[in-house]
Amino acid sequence: MPANIHQPQNITPGSDKESQVDSLLSQMTLQEKIGQMSQLNSDSKKLHTTLKNGLVGSIINEVDLDTINEFQLIATQETRLGIPLLIGRDVIHGFNTIFPIPLGQAASWSSDMVEVCAKISAIESSNSGVNWTFSPMIDISRDPRWGRVAESLGEDPFLCSTLGKAMVKGFQGDKLSDTYSIAACAKHFAGYGASESGRDYNTTNIPENELRNVYLPPFKVIADAGVSTFMASFSDLNGVPVTGNRWLLNDILRTEWQYSGLVVSDWESIPQLVTHGFADNEESAAFEACNAGVDMEMASDNYAEHLVTLIQKNKISIKQIDTMVSRILQLKFDLGLFETPFTESTASIEHLNGFHLSIAKQAATKSCVLLKNNEQILPLSKTTISQLAVIGPLADDGYEQLGTWVFDAKISQSITCLSAIKDYVEGSVDVKFSVGIETSRSNSQDGFIEAVDIASAADVAVMVLGEEAILSGEAHCRSNINLPGCQEQLINAIYETGTPIVLVIMAGRPITLEKILPKVDAVLFAWHPGTMGGQAITDILFGEECPSGKLPITFPRTIGQIPLYYGQKNTGRPASEATFVGINDIKVRAPQTSLGMTSTHLDTHYSPLFPFGYGLSYTQFEYKNIRVSKYSVAMGKSFKITATISNTGNVDADEIVQLYIRDLVGSVTRPVKELKGFKCIFLPAGESETVVFNIHTDELAFYNRQMEFKTEPGLFNVWIGGDSDTQLKTEFEVVCKESDSQVQPENESEYTE
Ligand code: NOJ
Repeated sequence: MPANIHQPQNITPGSDKESQVDSLLSQMTLQEKIGQMSQLNSDSKKLHTTLKNGLVGSIINEVDLDTINEFQLIATQETRLGIPLLIGRDVIHGFNTIFPIPLGQAASWSSDMVEVCAKISAIESSNSGVNWTFSPMIDISRDPRWGRVAESLGEDPFLCSTLGKAMVKGFQGDKLSDTYSIAACAKHFAGYGASESGRDYNTTNIPENELRNVYLPPFKVIADAGVSTFMASFSDLNGVPVTGNRWLLNDILRTEWQYSGLVVSDWESIPQLVTHGFADNEESAAFEACNAGVDMEMASDNYAEHLVTLIQKNKISIKQIDTMVSRILQLKFDLGLFETPFTESTASIEHLNGFHLSIAKQAATKSCVLLKNNEQILPLSKTTISQLAVIGPLADDGYEQLGTWVFDAKISQSITCLSAIKDYVEGSVDVKFSVGIETSRSNSQDGFIEAVDIASAADVAVMVLGEEAILSGEAHCRSNINLPGCQEQLINAIYETGTPIVLVIMAGRPITLEKILPKVDAVLFAWHPGTMGGQAITDILFGEECPSGKLPITFPRTIGQIPLYYGQKNTGRPASEATFVGINDIKVRAPQTSLGMTSTHLDTHYSPLFPFGYGLSYTQFEYKNIRVSKYSVAMGKSFKITATISNTGNVDADEIVQLYIRDLVGSVTRPVKELKGFKCIFLPAGESETVVFNIHTDELAFYNRQMEFKTEPGLFNVWIGGDSDTQLKTEFEVVCKESDSQVQPENESEYTE
């Protein structure tokens, strides 16, 4: 703690926060107000002068505690009004301890796990002086070519909302002013995930109904849950870049949702309004962003340079500026920065401590998804294997297993697959390692000979392949999402040895695996699993843990199927087994029959390779007896949907039980399935449990043709199962009032309470 610290000037701690904001605002010059609206990069050349002049509201990308305290000292002691700084950092899936990438965390379907990972990230980063993270990223992501799918929570609005809310809780804690709470940021508002062809920063065209029903819900949920800040997306939304989109940032966010937190731009996205062709110069870019409702400018200086002029020209009013600055000041008060601007280095806790690492291991375990397990080759047993080949560029690389956004990771602490496997089997199994190919992208087959040699001599080959970290994340998109480089050839070469292959994939996105699937006996999809990835994977491979992760995103067979997601619309001519005609069977065009005239490709099956929600276990689960407590549900009422799940195998295991509905007829067409609930249950071998979901008719609401959010009466299908392809179905109807109830269907027992 710097010596001789005084309270920031002109502030009375503890007095009513709104009047504190107003009182401070009333003392500020216009320059000082505009200064608060500016976030500078820590390496900005003008940082020191600007800071000393009291013209900086926030600094991004500084994590050295002494430097941050020094910045706070200048801001609070050497400027006229002593306003502390927001210190922003991308703490996306951990700070020093790295958890699985967000897409991996989403595969755990565990709000508790996601919350605790965010809590630990908040502890470690706040302990370094950071008080604001740019997370969670809650962009619905349905295009796996997009590199940022790694940072997302997947394709589904319900799952994304639930887990995003948990992340916010983890970062922000009970109170923002608590020592280890940091402000969270809902980003990128909105529609960024729909970037054309998965190219980052690209155009998005999203009809309003789709925007409201699919892309906005996670933002609304998180706004209601109290997320402190929003980030405006880089992208162009229906012709109006979000940074200058008043309809989205003002009419929806402020007026409709009554959101009062601070909105920050994305990195230099204000001057980029000129590049978009939306503003003719930086002054008009500053006008568009400010008028749309961007309170703080990240990294660039259009506000600092042009807002005064815009006010002089009466284009922007002082009132607008005051409202925006008050949101920034409010956050600083909420974080308790006026009382405690400094982070006490003496109070530093140990990062990467045993508890943090154990959570990182649990999170990685829960995020692994078992996609294939032929003849139950997994789990391996160290008593039946004498020689194991570990092959692949990702088997022993402590950095690559961490994934994107890991500026502050302590790479030396990473436990790799190779080291964890060696530790685990020490004394019982001879482990040989060959990298096979140098990096995940490499095309040189020089290393194949050694890899084939060790595989030939082994009982099992564990191949750790996938994508190195740099192949996903911001601006790291791919037009092909197969295993890069010559990895498929490497699999073929190992396959030729006849040794069974267990394929572990680390990647930042779904990978197209159809071609190599028949060559491997098991596939464990580990995403980028983080610091403790190797140990988590080893525990699963050897049966110390039973895999329970489920896909938060559809795995296509080929890139040509993209976008492919479970919640698609039915179309007028849906593909089905009965009508599907592949490229080899198509003979003549026969419009008079429905054969072949459906909405799919000729050269691939219409289904995905693995559906949303999919994931195997070391046991088997049987789902039966789906029932609704009422067949006719009156509007405004709740009802129950139940099913019995039995663990029919011989391993105790967790299962993620999923509930889907379909609104059969709507004033706008509705998806063929929508996730409306899920529960993680633990079932010992041989046991059964009846899982109950309570649904209120309000949860069936959607934006209709008039953009009103309403539940419509009518017939619904409902499914409960272990993935989105579940066939265990019943139905119910929503009626306007009790007396409208239809006669119960014949098999009444199906619907009894
Ligand atoms: C650009 C990214 O789009 C955003 O997600 C991130 O938070 C900022 N840069 C700050 O690094």
